[in-house]
Amino acid sequence: MKFVITGGAGFIGSHIAKHLINKNHKVTIVDNFSRGRLENLSGFEEKIEFQKMDILNLDSLKKIISDSDGIFHQAALTSVPESFIQKEKYHNVNVVGTENIFKLAKEFEKKVVYASSSSVYGNTSVTPITEDFDKNPINPYGITKLDDEKLAKKYHDLGVSIIGLRYFNVYGIGQTNDYAGVITKFFDQINLDQSPIVFGDGSHTRDFVSVEDVAKANLLSMESTTSFSFLNIGTGIPTSVNELAQLMINLSGKPLEIKHDELPQGDVKESLADVFLAKKLINWNYDISLKDGLKKYFF
Ligand SMILES: NC(=O)c1ccc[n+]([C@@H]2O[C@H](COP(=O)([O-])OP(=O)(O)OC[C@H]3O[C@@H](n4cnc5c(N)ncnc54)[C@H](O)[C@@H]3O)[C@@H](O)[C@H]2O)c1
Repeated sequence: MKFVITGGAGFIGSHIAKHLINKNHKVTIVDNFSRGRLENLSGFEEKIEFQKMDILNLDSLKKIISDSDGIFHQAALTSVPESFIQKEKYHNVNVVGTENIFKLAKEFEKKVVYASSSSVYGNTSVTPITEDFDKNPINPYGITKLDDEKLAKKYHDLGVSIIGLRYFNVYGIGQTNDYAGVITKFFDQINLDQSPIVFGDGSHTRDFVSVEDVAKANLLSMESTTSFSFLNIGTGIPTSVNELAQLMINLSGKPLEIKHDELPQGDVKESLADVFLAKKLINWNYDISLKDGLKKYFF
């Protein structure tokens, strides 16, 4: 089949592209390359069609989407700290841009699998968190993702098949440096023989899921008969940031010690997915443990 991936030159989108190519699908990537990089696609770029395009430009997307069998919508601005400073820009790309994709999916009757985020939940009093739990995002980025979910419901009610995947902390090779997650930052520090800098006391926990497992969840969602759902995509295993830093130091074999710095604004304390619904509806579960996923950085 032939699929469109918006944000396909980015970290997660490029892994989805690779997974689809490996499954013998055709892929068209739509990306404005504001954050995406061609290097993310190296080794299989000749098997992919590229369209340098902005998701805010609805008309330019029409032909590509009408020619496809479905859309994996990943394009977004993704930095929590930056979203406090550039609220309007984040709203435009993440909400107006996403509505463009939903509008075209409606016009051309295509299924959409798109990137939501665990940030829609905000600080939670209960873990692991199920999909029906209260949504109280604590930063402008999370608010854009919750606005997208409201739009997804609206467009589903108009007949569009939409699955929103609430990714927890996705890690893997290809994550961009400026806006990278904690694992890439620790790896870069350890690689330079520097101590990993943990923000706060390091007791806050995250649910780390490998980008390869996330790519699989995307295709399973597209293939599933489910026409509307939001699904947690995590492992259901909590790891504190201190544990993560120590695990990475151990894997590196270097004599480093963790250092601490101030906790930034808008960081949630605990984040842990209940993954029952993804198992039930799309038959997905993670395959790669955190330790095995981290080994790819060091060996
Ligand atoms: N990485 C994570 O842990 C995580 C967690 C939850 C949700 N998400 C979501 O997953 C998706 C992918 O995230 P990522 O980590 O791969 O980020 P990324 O920045 O690596 O990829 C996003 C891609 O979108 C492109 N893009 C941005 N604005 C665009 C526009 N206006 N038009 C066309 N392309 C545009 C960028 O150039 C980039 O290639 C995002 O929607 C993000 O919000 C990521």
